[in-house]
Amino acid sequence: MANTDTKRKAKARDLAFPTPDKARRGIVIAIDGPAGSGKSTLAALLARAYGYTNIETGAMYRALALKAIETNVAFDDSLALAELARQSRIELQAGEEGNRVVLDGRDVTEGIRRQDVTEAASQVSVHPPVREWMVRRQQEMGSGGGIVMEGRDIGTKVFPDAEVKIFLDAAPEVRGTRRFLQIPAATAPEAAVLAEMRERDKRDRSRANSPLEPAPDAITIDSTYLTLEQVVARVREIVDARLASRSSLRQ
Ligand code: DC
Repeated sequence: MANTDTKRKAKARDLAFPTPDKARRGIVIAIDGPAGSGKSTLAALLARAYGYTNIETGAMYRALALKAIETNVAFDDSLALAELARQSRIELQAGEEGNRVVLDGRDVTEGIRRQDVTEAASQVSVHPPVREWMVRRQQEMGSGGGIVMEGRDIGTKVFPDAEVKIFLDAAPEVRGTRRFLQIPAATAPEAAVLAEMRERDKRDRSRANSPLEPAPDAITIDSTYLTLEQVVARVREIVDARLASRSSLRQ
């Protein structure tokens, strides 16, 4: 009886003084997939459409890789890399043209896209202590909800309870060509970009810790024969359905 009374009072209090509880914040949209699948573009467009924060986790691994290059930390030295991560401040700041990536107070948005950094990021990201640090940071960054988080292990490790999980894939040839077209004044032939991407894919998919794979409850979308508009429309349908079911649950 006392228990029922307590519950009734708590309900009355919640109605009178609504708290910013989890249900009222935005949801977590997790987008995973291999390089060149179109994740980043999709995540940026979704974040804009829903007024959410876009968190590109690959940029965080890239920032650490850049710091390892600059400080001569070996890419296979797991403990030194984890220590380097602990000493780093990696921030993603929302800007007009997408996120700016700030490493220890320095804007490294352009620097982290270099080819040597791309290669190094794939190598530093295999180490469990590095991943643990990254996952914890990413969980902190997204703890308020209202985010689109994009990477390789968001639906499996970072936010296994994410309300929407998308695994975006595409045939390797198509992904290679997309990547090639993204490189300004491409310095390598298309075949070389494709070969490097396949190598990186293999490493991302076969690493022992958090390999790239869809979460069991993720919706896989193959974008090989889809335009960007079609992918965005499909994902928006999924997100809208989730938001609608959530608000009907609250009524
Ligand atoms: O998405 P990207 O190409 O910027 O990622 C750079 C590297 O970081 C990529 O080789 C895989 C790794 N990565 C990861 O292991 N886990 C994530 N959540 C994001 C990226």
